[in-house]
Amino acid sequence: MAQLATRYLGLPITSPVVASAGPDTGRIDTLAQLQDAGVGAVVLPSLFEEEIIAEELSLNEALEQGSDSYAEAVDYFPAMDFYDLGTDRHLRLVEQAKQKLTVPVIASVNAAHAGSWSRYATLMVDAGADAVELNIYAMAADPFRSAADVEAEYLDVVRTVRAAVRTPLAVKLSPYFSSLPHFAAALVAEGVNGLVLFNRFYAPDLDLEELTVQPRLELSRSSELRLPLRWLAMLRPQLPTVSLAATSGVHTWEDVAKALLVGADVAMTTSALLHHGPAHIATMEEGLVSWMVEHEYTSVNQLRGSVRREAAANPEAFERSNYARTLSSWR
Ligand SMILES: Cc1cc2nc3c(=O)[nH]c(=O)nc-3n(C[C@H](O)[C@H](O)[C@H](O)COP(=O)(O)O)c2cc1C
Repeated sequence: MAQLATRYLGLPITSPVVASAGPDTGRIDTLAQLQDAGVGAVVLPSLFEEEIIAEELSLNEALEQGSDSYAEAVDYFPAMDFYDLGTDRHLRLVEQAKQKLTVPVIASVNAAHAGSWSRYATLMVDAGADAVELNIYAMAADPFRSAADVEAEYLDVVRTVRAAVRTPLAVKLSPYFSSLPHFAAALVAEGVNGLVLFNRFYAPDLDLEELTVQPRLELSRSSELRLPLRWLAMLRPQLPTVSLAATSGVHTWEDVAKALLVGADVAMTTSALLHHGPAHIATMEEGLVSWMVEHEYTSVNQLRGSVRREAAANPEAFERSNYARTLSSWR
């Protein structure tokens, strides 16, 4: 029998298949279904600072309007600093998830201001989160900020969060860094325990009649996994101690096997769960176990990283020869 048990961010987990942040990890009933289906860990939806600010503003407005007509009503509300409605909802989800689940619960934070990252991360940890994932989803659009400036800002965020919380810390990255291995190594040097590759950027579309920008969320396809696969293969031998998670395009057991083979510790999935429901976790695991047995792997740890050695010696030369090979493979 092949063992799926492994570790992620230093935490023991029963399976390398993890539910990444998304609608299914935002409700306690679907979280329980994910656990029943055998998920290794869950990442809760990100606490977005903008969402909290918007809720605070609308509550403030309501309070101000109320205070005009009913001055005494204000006494029923604590000071705004402590009445943080949006944060409360996220913290309650962390608490409920911790009560209901035995698998690790990873809280995700997406803040907009330097000090907020560590504030929200601390609140999540105090609510019981086993680990924190920093969802760094920002587009560099300022022509006066260099790549080094952008990276320095992210590293500052990580440094302050690392100083504030002792739990394991992961960073979910975009693929748009000009020297990703250098930045990844800098994150590890700041004490990051895991890297999650990669965030999907939802590029908006245009409405040609209204001449407006339309947000458009399309679920991923398995072919999108190739980008994380390449970088996982490249980073694994160079950063041997950090946990690596694959996200974007993990739909089937074959996708999970590929992610592990190039060196991921876990394969995370969201779109496939939206297509097939939480029980799809069990289908992925059954397929993975059958394949492992057929190929005489007894554990995830044994198969992890088996297909990266070719790239390890000289990653740049490997990439270049692959590029030439790929172009000439067109028929
Ligand atoms: C509806 C939806 C909501 C999502 N919400 C979050 C979120 O709150 N935080 C986050 O880091 N990623 C979020 N994601 C991104 C997923 O966690 C995941 O990284 C991405 O969808 C790529 O994985 P997939 O190919 O398995 O879908 C969301 C994705 C979807 C489709």
